[in-house]
Amino acid sequence: MDAFMSAPRGQFTTRFGFIMAAAGSAVGLGNIWGFPTQTASNGGAAFVVVYLVLAFLLAYPALMAELVIGRHARANIVTALGSLSDKPIINNIGRATGFYGVIVASLILSFYTIVAGWMICYLFASATDLVSADTATQWLTTDSIDRNLFSSFIFAGLTLFIISSGVQNGIEKWSSRLMPVLMGLLCLLIAYVVAQPGAMEGLKVYLLPDMSRVFEPSLIISAMGQAFFSLSLGVGTMLVYGSYLSKDDSLPRLGAIVTVVDVGIAFIAGLLILPAMYVAQHAGVTILDDAGNLIGGPDMIFQVLPALFNTMGGAGDFVALAFFALMTIAALTSSISMLEVPVSLAVERFNVRRPVAAIAIGSSIFAISALIIFNFGTLFGFVIDLTTKYSEPLLGVAICLYCGWIFKRNLLLKELKEGHDDIEDSLFWKIWPLYVKVICPLLILATFWHSLS
Ligand code: PHE
Repeated sequence: MDAFMSAPRGQFTTRFGFIMAAAGSAVGLGNIWGFPTQTASNGGAAFVVVYLVLAFLLAYPALMAELVIGRHARANIVTALGSLSDKPIINNIGRATGFYGVIVASLILSFYTIVAGWMICYLFASATDLVSADTATQWLTTDSIDRNLFSSFIFAGLTLFIISSGVQNGIEKWSSRLMPVLMGLLCLLIAYVVAQPGAMEGLKVYLLPDMSRVFEPSLIISAMGQAFFSLSLGVGTMLVYGSYLSKDDSLPRLGAIVTVVDVGIAFIAGLLILPAMYVAQHAGVTILDDAGNLIGGPDMIFQVLPALFNTMGGAGDFVALAFFALMTIAALTSSISMLEVPVSLAVERFNVRRPVAAIAIGSSIFAISALIIFNFGTLFGFVIDLTTKYSEPLLGVAICLYCGWIFKRNLLLKELKEGHDDIEDSLFWKIWPLYVKVICPLLILATFWHSLS
């Protein structure tokens, strides 16, 4: 008898397991890399303030829409969005929207795998450096097609290994192990870096707001995109994780915890990255570009920070090891949630066994990563913009609209009450149903519109 065919649908076994998995999905390269660099280039703490407001005003309500639809439907995004109405045409549109989400999740995973591969290269390089294997270190830290294919392949392998082990033995087990390690590494690194000369300068840049910039449209748009990407919204990740939740858990509470952890870790990561940049400057490393802006993007992670680690003598290799381990873990707990989106669809709709689905879909996505690696100049930025800038907010709107207008109100309210008996007394109950129906989609669309004009 085939164990996988007869297995009941996966479910998280503990609340802690769900929180680690969902926070693991949310906390990724977007938090530790994206957020601090965006903050630095967008007026320091002014960006932090706008981001915090948008995370709770726009991203949290949209996250709730995904969780509530997922747990109600107990299914992947395509089946879930295709089952909320009595009208076949509306359900067909729902399925098409869900399918678009699956494509976007897969495309995000294809570029994410490449970036995570770079983290793996530098992780290995800090180890080879420790044992003075210079040729290996040189190969790992020099950008080349072979190196990028090799490291993306390893990362894709890790992702599909975890996903093929299932919801409890894969996603829940590994997120519950890796997330505490991530938090520990982050705290250790901050304690070390903040004690170095120059760190206070970085803290000032990070924490003193240039309030004149708070209402700048470009700042607001960047903050919205960042909030959506960071909470893994729009592509069905949170919907599918919500579908593995038990009816004993309060969705608004769990959603709030995940949002607070995500925002909190982004904020804490800023306490590491910006001081580290100024410690580097103090040690003689160039941290400003020709226009006088802080160097961001890959150059920050793969040139400025390694140059800083080099100035730290013997401790530098260990700091580098800890830093790139942190980045790799952050990326892995996010990438598994992306792969779960297409895999859950294949398992539930096409009856494919989970390990087969994970290997087939994981390899196809790796093939897209390889295509991007071979055509890096044209494809890399294009895929990132297409998915994160345009598709994620639009899909977020679609999911809010489905939740607000198509999902039957009595069923929606019933789902919210499960695991939360006194919810009718809460502010959430009074505001959210209308909010997700009208205000949230309008606010997202208005911001989106602005970003196009
Ligand atoms: N939230 C992840 C990050 O911050 C990225 C992500 C996007 C994960 C979409 C899943 C789905 O890096």
